[in-house]
Amino acid sequence: MDMEELFNPESIAIVGASAKPGKIGYSIMRNLVEYGYEGSIYPINIKGGEMTIKDRKFKVYKSVLDVPGKIDMAVVAVPAAHVPQVVDECGRKGVKVLPIISSGFGELGEEGKRIEQQLVEKARGYGMRVIGPNIFGVVYTPSKLNATFGPTDIIPGKLAFISQSGALGIALMGWTILEKIGLSALVSIGNKSDVDDADLLDYLEKDKNTEAILIYMEGIKDGRKFMQSAKRVSRKKPIVVIKAGRSERGARAVASHTGSLAGADRIYTAAFEQTGVLRAFSISEAFDWGRALSNLPEPQGDNVVIITNGGGVGVMATDACEEEGLKLYDNLEELKVFANYMPPFGSYKNPVDLTGMATAAEYEGALKTALAHPEMHAVVVLCCQTAILDAKDLADVLINAYTESGRKKPLVVAMVGGTEFREAINVLNENGIPTYPEPERAIGSIAALYRWHNWKTKEQVWRRP
Ligand code: COA
Repeated sequence: MDMEELFNPESIAIVGASAKPGKIGYSIMRNLVEYGYEGSIYPINIKGGEMTIKDRKFKVYKSVLDVPGKIDMAVVAVPAAHVPQVVDECGRKGVKVLPIISSGFGELGEEGKRIEQQLVEKARGYGMRVIGPNIFGVVYTPSKLNATFGPTDIIPGKLAFISQSGALGIALMGWTILEKIGLSALVSIGNKSDVDDADLLDYLEKDKNTEAILIYMEGIKDGRKFMQSAKRVSRKKPIVVIKAGRSERGARAVASHTGSLAGADRIYTAAFEQTGVLRAFSISEAFDWGRALSNLPEPQGDNVVIITNGGGVGVMATDACEEEGLKLYDNLEELKVFANYMPPFGSYKNPVDLTGMATAAEYEGALKTALAHPEMHAVVVLCCQTAILDAKDLADVLINAYTESGRKKPLVVAMVGGTEFREAINVLNENGIPTYPEPERAIGSIAALYRWHNWKTKEQVWRRP
């Protein structure tokens, strides 16, 4: 199925566009304009006239049928009772894809599901695809498209995020901005009456702007279809899923939220294992992994090296590596080279402890050495805030060393400290080096990369302990 018009529409109509701040039809218009969408924007409102959004004047059409040009995508934000007529008009207009924001369909029960199904049949009859209903919209950063009523300033990146939940999805949009997580796409799929996770996976598999995919999922209607797509896509790009409704009571909550059947959790677990999908249990875990998976190259071998200035964080990271099944490189003859970057009381045994004496210069030397060494396949840099370690300098040398090396090996960083370190974490993340405030999160993220790589290359299945 071709989803091109969902991500790269040449023209968009907003049905229910509004000039009144606070209304959903206004927020979508504002986001489209503010985020810099360069295609044609057609506001549709039964009242007609004109509207000004962020100093840009628009002619308002009473119906999509009145728009002179073609319309690729129509975002529908009118009350549910008006949606059937809008779908019909959009079909007659030749619209290709129809994100329906409106709530009040399948999530209400059987009657709502029946109406929803009729809408889809009508749309498909016209050759249109439906996203939703009951959604907050779609973002595709490469085409500067933000057709949502969520936050505006989504950071461009290589992680695609698909959300079945609306409110949580919007909240996470804001969260990705705060956490400096770059997104390629964000699609709210709500009731999944037509387009589902598998359709989007099929598109994103080939999308050159997407390196990893993260799905918040409550339930799947067509399990076989999902598994087929997920298995194929996982061989090219990693997929992380947060599957909510793990518990029996959680599954009942899912049914009344998006009308999905959460099903027996162990069936989902088995399906994810078979298809190489990495199942995360929390939002921070999912995005930690997504950050690493969308930014880092695959490892060319198993040997991990930890470089630290603190014994404590080194030990904690070592524990985490053991638990995650990561292999710490321990060829002492080769590791000896790190002695050049530490005082005599340092330790070049892996974890390599540069000691609290380390400045950005020692980190630079040690990192460059690890990145250049043929037997060191992945690097973890840990830093504790000290009086002599300048956070900004450290961020600069890490970014420069990694960039100069050609970014061929996975590198994750953990920086434990206060305000300056938080700022450095942001800078590193903005520069595509996955950086975390705790060692375990850095290790968990590089472990996710290894798990996906091992599934892909060795069919090795990971089971959560
Ligand atoms: N064609 C064109 N415009 C129409 C229309 C139609 N058939 N029917 C209504 N409109 C216009 C209205 O005139 C109004 O314009 P105004 O703001 O200038 O007055 C605008 O469209 C919106 O209609 P209104 O009746 O005011 O609805 P609303 O803005 O209060 O609510 C929805 C519309 C879609 C937001 C609401 O029905 C809804 O479903 N909300 C839930 C959304 C949601 O939570 N989605 C889930 C993801 S989190």
